[in-house]
Formats: sequence, structure tokens, C-alpha cells
Amino acid sequence: MKLCILGGGGFRTPYIYQALLHDLGTPRVEHVVLYDVDEERLIAMVRILEEFAEGVANAPTVTATTELTAALEASDFIFSAIRVGGLEGRRCDEHVALDLGVLGQETTGPGGLAYALRTLPVMLDIAQRVKDVAPSAYVLNFSNPAGIITEAMQGVLGDRVLGICDTPSGLGRRAASLLGLDHNRVEIDYIGLNHLGWMRGLIFDGVDRLPELIANDVLLAGLEEGQIFGAEWIRALGLIPNEYLYYYYYNRDAVRAIAQSGKTRGDFLAATQTEFYDRVGEMSAGRSDLWWSTVDRRSASYMAEATGGTQDSPVAHKQYEPDPSHQGYAGVALAVMNAIARNERHTMILNVRNRGAISGLPDDAVVEIPAMVDANGVHPLSVTAPTLHQLGLMSQIKQVERGIIAAATSGSREQAVTAFALHPLVDSVTVARSLVDGYIDAIPEVAAVLTR
Ligand code: G6P
Ligand code: MN
Repeated sequence: MKLCILGGGGFRTPYIYQALLHDLGTPRVEHVVLYDVDEERLIAMVRILEEFAEGVANAPTVTATTELTAALEASDFIFSAIRVGGLEGRRCDEHVALDLGVLGQETTGPGGLAYALRTLPVMLDIAQRVKDVAPSAYVLNFSNPAGIITEAMQGVLGDRVLGICDTPSGLGRRAASLLGLDHNRVEIDYIGLNHLGWMRGLIFDGVDRLPELIANDVLLAGLEEGQIFGAEWIRALGLIPNEYLYYYYYNRDAVRAIAQSGKTRGDFLAATQTEFYDRVGEMSAGRSDLWWSTVDRRSASYMAEATGGTQDSPVAHKQYEPDPSHQGYAGVALAVMNAIARNERHTMILNVRNRGAISGLPDDAVVEIPAMVDANGVHPLSVTAPTLHQLGLMSQIKQVERGIIAAATSGSREQAVTAFALHPLVDSVTVARSLVDGYIDAIPEVAAVLTR
């Protein structure tokens, strides 16, 4: 099979390739094509992947191109991991909001809306191109904000596109392992939108083991989510929220902590990754060691730091774990790809069309819920009804997401202001206006979208 990685010069590509190297089932990916707008990054990345492939029998071949059509043609699967505006754009998403006293974050709150505004036209164009040149390919979208981008792309590609996030399965896996359970045999009862969800149950052999975890302070202290939310709040809710809900439940604390640290996650990544690409560009050989020493933990450690929960340094890097189920995005994406290609039934938490699964949300809304995947595609499973709190928050955010898709499509500044103003983390219409003006001034890719 041919796998196309959009944004292939990005930092997560080695994880995907490593997972492919270890995957020996049939059919498998024999050819990987990396697509990126940055040629130097592509060259650096190809060298790193070649180094990983050294000595591995039947390693997938790797090519790279800056031509989108050539990259997409004849692809069986397309992974999308692009970052429109780069890390500079991310820094602006964060800082414009923080300067106005509201949350500045990659995907949650106004920062995520700015990110969506500039990413939507690019991804809609890619969706159209996929439809033209690779109509039978599946698109697995990790481009953030993944829920919004996937929903917009579904308008072009229907169920051939699905959204992927590592946080729900990561939470389920970590919770299962704390309870000493085999995570492959655990069923996660999860409901939400991307980066806005709740784990309501953890079923093993027909028994929900979540109450046991929630009641146990020692176990909760070993869980990232236990540290950032605190045992008391988890018990008050009676479930474990997705880590990104930290930005809602502890909004003031999060904004204060990020502002006080003076350095956002985007600042940190921009500094380290720029240094990496500069250094790797100067060298003739592949430098996977340099990649290893630069790649690091996800933003959750940032949240934990903000609450004083853990003292994990954001610079400490994750150890590579060869079991594909431990590889975050790469693990989920490969599992989805193989379930489709090999007709191996798997249940995973994915961003898919609701189709009545969550009562109270529209059928064509993209939601993050357990879905069964096989050769026939993706089949959302029915979930028990959300609480009023969950439904209320999801409805509010879904309206905002749809507003931002409409604004990106029409180019209307007014529609954008309305979407920002309706976001629960934007506390005033005047702030919404300032945010949109601020993003137009700071980010050329946003200015280009909001022409009217
Ligand atoms: C998790 C989320 C992603 C997000 C990433 C941020 O993996 O699921 O959606 O992009 O964290 O990681 P970063 O290292 O870029 O802060
Ligand atoms: Mn995610």
C-alpha cells in the first residue's frame, strides 16, 4: 500500500515510520510519500527515516515531494498532520489571547479558533484534491483542531475522512494499567467532542472498574488527569475528564499560570524545533539522535506544572516504546488503517459523524466516541446519553465550531466575531472583537482568510 503523509516534514513523522517498520501484517505499507511545503524539512526528515530503516528487512521506501497532486495520487491512505502558519502561527494564537486575558492554547478556546480559521481553507482544498485524484483513499486527519477540520472535510469526502486524537485512548490505556488491567481487553465508555470529552466507564469482563480508580487517591495520584484535576473534583464529577478540560474547569488558574510563566508551549516548541531543523540541515548524515533528544512530552505536563501537580519538566522527552499501542497518534492511526485494510475489527475512539449516537447533537456533527472499524469503514457505536452539563458544553462548542467553519468559508469577519463571542472561554463580545482584530494583525494567514 501507499501511504501519503501531509505535513511529512513535521516532528511526529518518525513515530509513524517507526510504527510502520514494526508492522509486518498483510497488506502493509510498502511506500511512504512525505508531502510538505518546506523542502529543507523534507530532506532532513527523509534522512532521519532512512537511518531508522537501516538494517530493517523490507522497510517501506520513503520519497518526498512538495507537489500535492503527485503526493496524493495512487495513495491508499492519507495521514494529514499539517500546521498552517507553523509554530510561529501557534505562538500568535497563544499570545494574542493571553494579552487579552483569555486562554491562549493550541486547540482550546480562542487560540484554536484562530488556528482553525487559517487551516480550514487549506484542508478544504486538500479534501477536494483527494476527491479528484485519490477518491478511494481514506484520510486520517490529525491536523488540529481535529474536530473542526474533520467536520469541514466531511462535507467534501463524507465518511472517507475521520479524525484522530491520541488523548482518549491514552487516558484509557493509562487508567487500565494503573488498575493492573490489560488495556486491549478494556472497553472505554467515552463521550465528547475532540479535546472536550469524558471517560465515564472502564469496563473489564463486564464490570465497570472506573469507580475503583476514582475512589483511590493513590492510584489517582499516578494518573496525569488525577494530578491536574485533583481527586476531589474527579469524584465530584464521578468520571475522568479529558486532560484538555483542564482549560475549562480551571480556566483562571490555567490562564494565570501560562501568563506568569511568560513562555507558552508554542514558544518552547518553536525554540527547540527551530534549533533542531537548523542543526540537522547543516549535516549530511541522518541525525535521528538529534530528533530523539528534541522530541518531548505532550502539553499535559504543562497543565500539570501549572497546577503544581507534577514537577515533570516540559523538556524531559518521552521514551520511545516499540509497542504500537503505546505510540499515541501513530498507534491509533495504524490501528485504524489496518482495521480497514485487513478487515480486522477494532473498536477505537474516533472523530466520526454522530448519526444519532449522541442524542441532542445533529446527525452530521463530528463527535469523538467509540466506533467499530472494519473493511466497510467506520461504524459509530451507540453511547448512553450525556448529562445536561456534557450536552450543554458540547452544544455550545459545536455551534462555535460551525460558526468558525462558516466564517472561514465566507471570509466574513462578522461571522468570525460571532463564533469567538459565543465561545464559553471568551467572556465578552468586546473581547471577541479584539481577538479577531488581533489575529488579523498578527497572523497573515488569518488576515488572508478574513477578507470581508
Ligand atoms: C496531544 C493532542 C494533540 C496536540 C498535542 C500537543 O497529542 O492530542 O492534539 O496537538 O498533544 O502536543 P505539543 O507537543 O505540540 O504541545
Ligand atoms: Mn488531539
